[in-house]
Amino acid sequence: MKTYIVGNWKMNLTVGESSIYLHKLLKRLKQARGLEVVVAPSLVAIQSLSLQVDRHKIKLAAQNFYHQDYGAYTGEVSISQLRTLVDYAIVGHSERRYIFKETDKDIRAKVAAAIRNGVTPILCIGETASERDFGETKDVLRDQLFGGLSDVSAEDLKKVIIAYEPVWAISSVKGARLASPDDIATSVDLIHKQLKARFGKEVEEQIPVLYGGSVNPSNAGAYLTIPGVNGLLIGGSSLIADHFVDIIDLAKRLRS
Ligand code: PGA
Repeated sequence: MKTYIVGNWKMNLTVGESSIYLHKLLKRLKQARGLEVVVAPSLVAIQSLSLQVDRHKIKLAAQNFYHQDYGAYTGEVSISQLRTLVDYAIVGHSERRYIFKETDKDIRAKVAAAIRNGVTPILCIGETASERDFGETKDVLRDQLFGGLSDVSAEDLKKVIIAYEPVWAISSVKGARLASPDDIATSVDLIHKQLKARFGKEVEEQIPVLYGGSVNPSNAGAYLTIPGVNGLLIGGSSLIADHFVDIIDLAKRLRS
C-alpha cells in the first residue's frame, strides 16, 4: 500500500500565491515510489495549478464539490466539472460537517459522485471532544463511516480513502489538543475492524486509512508509524513549504 501525504490548504492562498507555492514544492520534490503526495488548493486555483503541476510528483484534490453532475445549482461546482483537473476529493471534512451542516446523506451522495466520476474520495470521519468525553467515539466513527460508504459497491470500496480526523485535534479548533499515538491507534484499529466486519478482509486491506489533526514535522514520524495508518492529512503545516517537504521526506525515509 502507498503512503499518502495530503495537504489541505483550506481557504488560504490566492491564485498567485498557490502557483508560487506549487512551484517551490515541485522544485524540491522528487518522484518517490510508493509515496503519493496530494495537495488540495482553493477551487479558484485548481485549474491553473492543474496545468502547472507535474502529476508524477504531486496530485491535486478538490476540497469540496456538489454531488449533482450538472444543472441549475447556482454557485456550485460539480465533480464532473473537476474530474479532469483533480485525482482526489476531500469529502466529509469536519469543517463541512459542522460549519456547513453537511449530513451523512450529503456526504454519501458526494462519495458516490466522486466515484462515478473517477475521482478518489478521501472520506473524513472523526469524533468531537464532547462525543469522545461521553464515550461515543466508536458509534460516531461507525455512523460516519457507513453513513458515507453505504451506497458504494464492494468493487468501488477499493477506490476510497478514509481519513481519521478527531475534531478536537484539528489545529484551528478552539482548545485543540494533540492526539497521542495511542489515541489514534485505538480509533484507527476500530475503523479497520468496522470495515472488515462490514465489507470483509479483502476489501478492508485495500482501503488506506490516513490520520489528520495538528500534524507537523516533529510528530509526523510518530503518527506515520502507528500500525494501520497509511498516511497523513495535513492542514496548517501543509501551508509552510519547509514543513510540508520535511514531512514528505520523513515519509520517504520511513518507507525505505
Ligand atoms: P490541521 O488540519 O493539520 O491544521 O490540524 C487538519 C485538517 O483539518 O484536515
